[in-house]
Amino acid sequence: MQKQNQAIGIFDSGIGGLTVTKAIQKLLPNEGFIYFGDTAHLPYGDKSIPAIQSYSIKICNFLLEQNCKVILIACNSASSVAYELIKEYVGSKAFVLNVIDPTVQYIQKKYQNKRIGLIGTQRTVGSNIYKKKIDELKQGVELSSLATPLLVPMIEENFFQNQIRQDIVAKYLLQENLQNIEALILGCTHYPLIKDEINSFYENKVEIIDSSEIVATYLKSILSENSLLNEDTKKNNEFYVSDYTRGFEASSQLFFGKEIQLQLYPLWE
Ligand code: DGL
Repeated sequence: MQKQNQAIGIFDSGIGGLTVTKAIQKLLPNEGFIYFGDTAHLPYGDKSIPAIQSYSIKICNFLLEQNCKVILIACNSASSVAYELIKEYVGSKAFVLNVIDPTVQYIQKKYQNKRIGLIGTQRTVGSNIYKKKIDELKQGVELSSLATPLLVPMIEENFFQNQIRQDIVAKYLLQENLQNIEALILGCTHYPLIKDEINSFYENKVEIIDSSEIVATYLKSILSENSLLNEDTKKNNEFYVSDYTRGFEASSQLFFGKEIQLQLYPLWE
């Protein structure tokens, strides 16, 4: 049985899940979280399904040892190929949430009979999971997807504000199958970090669906329905990585301030 004052466990391959974590912190300031960035295995988007599943289970073991009440898979690639397995593995020890279902619910409410685009990693797009879930709703949503594998390494490297970055974004968004869309799903939690470039490419005429706030709202509803909102004194947030990277350190401090202490937890064994 989970308790209100237990932490929320969140993981991603790297800094992407911090976009979701930031939205959670804003909406649920009383919740403490334990963040795990699997920097040793980044990017997940080009890894095999068994590899992503095995990294995810190791991270879940760690988060369960830390006594988390919720495990949030803040990564689309892991959500697309490891969610069912993780749910089964974790059982009743914690609530398991992914970033795809809340986004699909949002689309169901807002985009009936519309044409929308999706960008994501090769693993997420290749899994076809968004299309399957959206088609099951039978709301006439036409989804067109594109894998954009250069974006995660570019973002992890803090490759900000330069022409090459704008050019890479434009090259992808100009692809044939992303034309004439009314909205674009950022199907990777790293991509909100380049939302400005994407918005400027579209001159703000296409809605950019950033799942961070959608997922934070969903998490709040789950905690509230299960009487698990923390009303106690807030615990400190903790940040773990499976390998130190300059990019993670710089970005996590940018998001959460200089006081962040990165802790190393290798996932070798
Ligand atoms: N941020 C993750 C996602 O949403 C992982 C990206 C990657 O590591 O390739 O897919």
